[in-house]
Amino acid sequence: MTLFISEVLGEHHSLEEFESDQPELDRWLKQEARGAHTQGMARVTVWCEPDSGVVVAFFAITPTQISPDGISRSARGGYSSPIPGYLIAKLALAKSMTGRGFGGELLLDALETVSAAANAGSGRLVVVDSIDDRAYEFYRHHGFTPIGETLRLFAHIPDVTASIAAGRYGPKSCEEIS
Ligand SMILES: CC(C)(COP(=O)(O)OP(=O)(O)OC[C@H]1O[C@@H](n2cnc3c(N)ncnc32)[C@H](O)[C@@H]1OP(=O)(O)O)[C@@H](O)C(=O)NCCC(=O)NCCS
Repeated sequence: MTLFISEVLGEHHSLEEFESDQPELDRWLKQEARGAHTQGMARVTVWCEPDSGVVVAFFAITPTQISPDGISRSARGGYSSPIPGYLIAKLALAKSMTGRGFGGELLLDALETVSAAANAGSGRLVVVDSIDDRAYEFYRHHGFTPIGETLRLFAHIPDVTASIAAGRYGPKSCEEIS
């Protein structure tokens, strides 16, 4: 049985073995994640084995200003200026772990992080830029709303926070698997 924990990227984490279905995300984790994290460009969270520190999943979040184009008036709160929020800039799970519910748990972990950040500061929307059609459908499946004809989707952070509080996004992200 292996226990995975979710924690902020640190020196002790081993990134080299990470392999998802998206080589570009693997490259980013290995070559750019530490720099982006330490420079304050993104907050990187990883899932790892506690003893070895081997990373099996990760996501990166950054504050952003979201264009109101293509977003409904109610979601914009009536504003026509850029909307403060968060971008889930990267999110990936090890290939060996897909199709078993961990992707949904990883997204929950990312949304909890966004919700906490918005609670501490501010932020109305969370957006994702899908890397391909499969990722687009994954986010749609989890309640994100498309923005026009683009691969960008959004969710309303107060709604996300309420869904998490109501238990509609499932349990927390620390997982035990055999
Ligand atoms: C995207 C990713 C995290 C999904 O992980 P996963 O393990 O395949 O997904 P899960 O098994 O946790 O699925 C969670 C739920 O989403 C659904 N789902 C997963 N992929 C889906 C898809 N392409 N379309 C629609 N629904 C999808 C599952 O049916 C499941 O639904 P349920 O909770 O109602 O049973 C994973 O495939 C991955 O890391 N891919 C490579 C990186 C990537 O594309 N990241 C997106 C960056 S934009």
